[in-house]
Amino acid sequence: MLILAPMQGLTELMFRRAYNQCFPGALDSSVAPFVSLTHGNCGGREQLEDILPERNEGSIPVIPQILGHELEEFVRMADCMGDLGYTEVNWNIGCPMRRIAAKHRGSGILPHPDEIREVLDYVVPRIKPRLSVKMRLGHRSADEIFDIIPILNDYPLASVTIHGRSGKQQYGGSVDKERVFKAASMLKAPFIYNGDICTAGQWSVVSGRWSATSGKTLAGVMIGRGVLYDPTLPLKIKGIEGDYTEMTRQFVTTLYDAIERDYPHDIPRLRKMKEYWCLVYKSLPVSESAARAMLRLQEIKDFRKAVDKAIIGN
Ligand SMILES: Cc1cc2nc3c(=O)[nH]c(=O)nc-3n(C[C@H](O)[C@H](O)[C@H](O)COP(=O)(O)O)c2cc1C
Repeated sequence: MLILAPMQGLTELMFRRAYNQCFPGALDSSVAPFVSLTHGNCGGREQLEDILPERNEGSIPVIPQILGHELEEFVRMADCMGDLGYTEVNWNIGCPMRRIAAKHRGSGILPHPDEIREVLDYVVPRIKPRLSVKMRLGHRSADEIFDIIPILNDYPLASVTIHGRSGKQQYGGSVDKERVFKAASMLKAPFIYNGDICTAGQWSVVSGRWSATSGKTLAGVMIGRGVLYDPTLPLKIKGIEGDYTEMTRQFVTTLYDAIERDYPHDIPRLRKMKEYWCLVYKSLPVSESAARAMLRLQEIKDFRKAVDKAIIGN
């Protein structure tokens, strides 16, 4: 099972819809970027816009994600998601952003296993959807996970996704696969691997390594940046052949057309296109210097023309 990782500002509905239009079924599932628990405003339509079922038709199947630890708000939000038809919600205890972690949210809760237990104790028996968890190895230290797994094992979680970095590492350094596997082998819930899968070879090393250590197959591999660098990566992993460059060209065009539709103003429109461009150009026949020069263009029409020229050749 290949799952698209949640990436705030990148894997929202517009991306997921364009992706599934070009590569139907290539990604089996996705987790939506987090919805934050804010006092007094849980489950407002605006917060849930990205996961409204009618808007997600024809898109990659999606699991909503919650960030925060406020007990009553958590239950209210999960039940709003349940009322929309979701049978699973995901709890984000991996986000490393300083201002978030400082409030014991995201990875900031990982050094406090007692607080994790308090949330699970309160939330799990009260909500209708099943709960899954997405976490890092720890916040300050990559060993924190070993105090957390026994707690997670006390609850009937749908799955646990582990990203092999600590919060302090943010996205730097390398993923500690060995520690991930060690922690995952203590886990009762189905295990989903996440972190630095950018090639089919890396996927196969991780899957093979897990089978060899645990005798089990992975419940899933969650991929974020790898899909943004190379949108055809899930096809390569699944052994679906084709003209990958041409497929990537079509996808970029579909995505940019969607951005043109969804962003009425030029400045945010251009910013959005550039956000994707600086990742996806790596899998197109565009030189690094040409791609970087394009990022300096200030007018949307110049940028779009340059992209068309670079990828379509007209
Ligand atoms: C820009 C950005 C936004 C992210 N937003 C979220 C988020 O909303 N929820 C979450 O659980 N993880 C979020 N992540 C973490 C990713 O889901 C994923 O765990 C991380 O990128 C590692 O996987 P990868 O190496 O396959 O990209 C984000 C990461 C980035 C770089």
